[in-house]
Amino acid sequence: MESDQMTEEEKVFKDPVHGYIYVHDPVIWALINTREMQRLRRIRQLGTSSVTYPGGDHTRFSHSLGVYEVIRQILLAFERNGYDWPHHLDRLAMVSGLLHDVGHAAYSHALEKVIGMRHETWSERIILDPATEVHQVLERVDPGFSQQVADVIGKRHANSLVVSVVSGQLDADRLDYLMRDSIFTGVDYGKFDLARIIRIMLPKEGKIVVRRSGLHTVEAYLLARYFMYWQVYFHPVSRSAEVLLRAILSRAQEVYATVFMPHPSLMGLFSGKIGLDDYLAIDDSVLMNAFNVWQKASDSVLADLCTRLVERHLFKYVEYPVSSLQVYQEIACDVEGMGYDSRYYCLVDETGTIYYDYYLGEEGTSGKEGALFLWDEERGQLVEMSRLSKPISAIARERQGVRRLYLPEEVLAHPVVGPRIVQRIQRDRDRFH
Ligand code: NI
Repeated sequence: MESDQMTEEEKVFKDPVHGYIYVHDPVIWALINTREMQRLRRIRQLGTSSVTYPGGDHTRFSHSLGVYEVIRQILLAFERNGYDWPHHLDRLAMVSGLLHDVGHAAYSHALEKVIGMRHETWSERIILDPATEVHQVLERVDPGFSQQVADVIGKRHANSLVVSVVSGQLDADRLDYLMRDSIFTGVDYGKFDLARIIRIMLPKEGKIVVRRSGLHTVEAYLLARYFMYWQVYFHPVSRSAEVLLRAILSRAQEVYATVFMPHPSLMGLFSGKIGLDDYLAIDDSVLMNAFNVWQKASDSVLADLCTRLVERHLFKYVEYPVSSLQVYQEIACDVEGMGYDSRYYCLVDETGTIYYDYYLGEEGTSGKEGALFLWDEERGQLVEMSRLSKPISAIARERQGVRRLYLPEEVLAHPVVGPRIVQRIQRDRDRFH
């Protein structure tokens, strides 16, 4: 790095994932200290997951620092190995990694649906809005720098290598959150050899790939990811809390005009006219406080849902491999018959993620962004991962998520209604599968 980029002294964070996180660049340091980045200290990385894994309470702030650190280490490794990498874009890559989640909503992705805008869009907005501290720091670097960072995060930047190190198949974002989530939840088989992955990565044909000799290291990483999806991200109890959270948010949206809002910014959120200031004011504590207060709300549905979430009386679930609307309507009718509004008490949750999305093209073609490639030095070409790996080709074929139906415990435990619901699902499955 050039000397004008150096701070007086090196700044260091202690971090359980990377040991230490080093900051040399005063721009990175200034960004970390902005209002918008500090907000991420008040947003947990895993949303509702700590109902299942009590240790999973780490924040988006630590993850963001971690992504920056992973990129820093990757770029150092590229430099050591003399790889063909545009080092004049190093700062852009590290800044984009640090800021990639700056627009993340409080609590979890559930809030994005209420607002109708994805967090990536908010991230870009925060970076580009002249009123934010983040924007001001970026524009002091170079007029137009904020636009470049927004373009990397929005995957529009002309340099595809920089985009893929921040968000690709083997990107710094995933490498950090998988390791971090596995360490904090205690799910040990979600861990992988991060240091070795960084050592075997290389830039080739406009994307980040790995050396073929690193096949097993990458297999271990993809398997770790597979386990993390099933054990943490798709965990039925965590999803139950998420389902309840969605129900609360949609009820609050329905009755906002008649319910007390414990924080002024919540009005903007639920009325559908949310501006940047309100968005940035809403963190996990604002929402948690609202749920707490609403346990005594005049709206009995909202009060009940909030009490269930606060006291962790979550909905129970049954596997729901049903696609027929009629079956849902029959079950909803049963639920209504017990006095529950089925819009909030009879909820289907679908986990629809594919763990490894590969491209069925010819060896050596670049394929779509989901594929991961190995660099075969002897033959001088890229080979798509699942062609070389039996376990990964097996995972790649698994394209189905899981569907579950969430209901209040007392509905499923009801001696007549409970078994009838299970039967309806069973009958539908027998008919179509
Ligand atoms: Ni992230």
